[in-house]
Amino acid sequence: MTLQPPIGLLAELTHRCPLRCPYCSNPLELTRAERELDTASWGRVFREAAELGILQVHLSGGEPTLRPDLEEIVARARAAGLYVNLITAGVLLNVERVARLKEAGLDHVQLSLQDVDPASAERIGGMKGAHAKKLDAARLIREVGLPITLNAVMHRQNLDRVAEVVETALAIGAHRLEIAHTQYYGWALVNRRALMPPREQVARARAVVDEARPRLKGRLVIDYVAPDYYARYPKPCVGGWGRSVITVGPDGKAMPCHAAHTIPGLVFDNVAERPLAWIWRNGPAFEAFRGTDWMQEPCRSCERREIDFGGCRCQAMALTSDPTATDPACSLSPLHDRLLALADADSLGDPDFTYRRFMTRPPVASDELSPS
Ligand code: SF4
Ligand code: FES
Repeated sequence: MTLQPPIGLLAELTHRCPLRCPYCSNPLELTRAERELDTASWGRVFREAAELGILQVHLSGGEPTLRPDLEEIVARARAAGLYVNLITAGVLLNVERVARLKEAGLDHVQLSLQDVDPASAERIGGMKGAHAKKLDAARLIREVGLPITLNAVMHRQNLDRVAEVVETALAIGAHRLEIAHTQYYGWALVNRRALMPPREQVARARAVVDEARPRLKGRLVIDYVAPDYYARYPKPCVGGWGRSVITVGPDGKAMPCHAAHTIPGLVFDNVAERPLAWIWRNGPAFEAFRGTDWMQEPCRSCERREIDFGGCRCQAMALTSDPTATDPACSLSPLHDRLLALADADSLGDPDFTYRRFMTRPPVASDELSPS
């Protein structure tokens, strides 16, 4: 296989966040502020990324606006020649900050939405007043002329309001709406019983999206990420392991996907110690599941093995304790029926959330489908 350069760099500037979403994909054990890379280090990473052929950087977190040097980070990414996207909850933005970010060279904002009902949105995000602040931020972002993609993470407790999510995207002037069902790793796995929707609810939401897409053609692009567990085939997670994305965590750890730290035994290089190009080409964590040689049956001989690359390695790990297993979300996995039974049971679960917090030890080890 000829190795192409990655398309995108996901730069996780911090794990700190004022919200506590119960589906947060950040690690259960978060990196503390004192271990975060400084401005100059990020600047060097951006230059190395551009030299490697990367086109876009996604500044993410946690909440990246908690970095007081965010404007300088944006400026350095822009100076390196990267398209700069900010992924934010928006709750800490004000008119001056938005103007400074635009001035520094920001190209695009991805704004998260917890719900359209303020009380529910604030319960999900665990922050009072967050919803109004977010809508205000959307207005400020549009006023300086930056394009917005609205990112709505959907689950049982907000899925019946998907039509209102579409209306909200239109009302704030978003040009794109990503309706993404929760992916179950990290905190979402801890909260799966509170989040998993029943199949009928998913079908109703899908019908709303299918009706809205052609009606809004030319005004709003709607991306829809189906819930994994109910899909026939899994998605090619992160575009295939080590194929299109590099994630760099707050402390400089370079990973093939943002949840790769959940796979025990992987050795991650740090951008403070190795050039990004070396890590991309030779890093053992990137090599671990690149291509198809690592696959087991049924993936190994499946005609879709270079379409979805066996699904999600982190999900295979979380559910089976084996990161080389076929993602149980695939209907061809021998564990798929058991996964569906789990999903059906969880869709009737208790709605209370376990909120994310700084902690030193994970609250659960999930390997529910692993052989007993
Ligand atoms: Fe994809 Fe593997 Fe399922 Fe085939 S068996 S569709 S390669 S996950
Ligand atoms: Fe890591 Fe899917 S989240 S491979």
